[in-house]
Amino acid sequence: MHELDSKATPRTMISEQKLAQRVAELAEEIDRDYADSDRLLAVGVLKGSVFFMVDLLKHLQVPVAVDFFQTSSYGDSTEPGEVRIRKDIDLPVRGADVLLIEDIVDTGYTLRTILDLLRFRKARSVRLCALLDKTSRREVEVPIHYRGFEIDDVFVVGYGLDYDERYRNIPYIGRMD
Ligand code: IMP
Repeated sequence: MHELDSKATPRTMISEQKLAQRVAELAEEIDRDYADSDRLLAVGVLKGSVFFMVDLLKHLQVPVAVDFFQTSSYGDSTEPGEVRIRKDIDLPVRGADVLLIEDIVDTGYTLRTILDLLRFRKARSVRLCALLDKTSRREVEVPIHYRGFEIDDVFVVGYGLDYDERYRNIPYIGRMD
């Protein structure tokens, strides 16, 4: 858990323009890779991934179904590495090409848990698209197929990411100093 001054103003780390450009590039790659898929299922992790996911999916030409997981977050009474699923997805996974979409990969525990669950449910394929990657914080391995930006170990907010449910609506990625 990072302790922050709740009145602090986030400093721009990745501008709106850079985000838009990178999102368009990722979408192009995804569109190409899934051009032959007849069952692409985009699965977001609430709530942080929503802004990124909407922007990304609007670029895609390939038909895509959409669903969401919600997991327990920082500060809940969970053991380190113990991730709880608060909301499961509604759509069937068996035989689908699942594209898991996440705002940020930190320790990796959240995505490791979800990736294992999707494989257990016999998805035809599972790939991960993450906007931000804090590689230096990783504790469990997760393969990121589509990665927006690698960032240092700093706490970031905006474009969906929050600090205590604040700052999600900031249109850029800002760092809290
Ligand atoms: P992981 O399970 O440790 O990889 O944690 C992933 C989750 O932690 C993300 O989906 C975010 O909700 C949260 N998180 C990690 N780093 C940050 C950050 O810098 N800002 C806001 N949320 C973060």
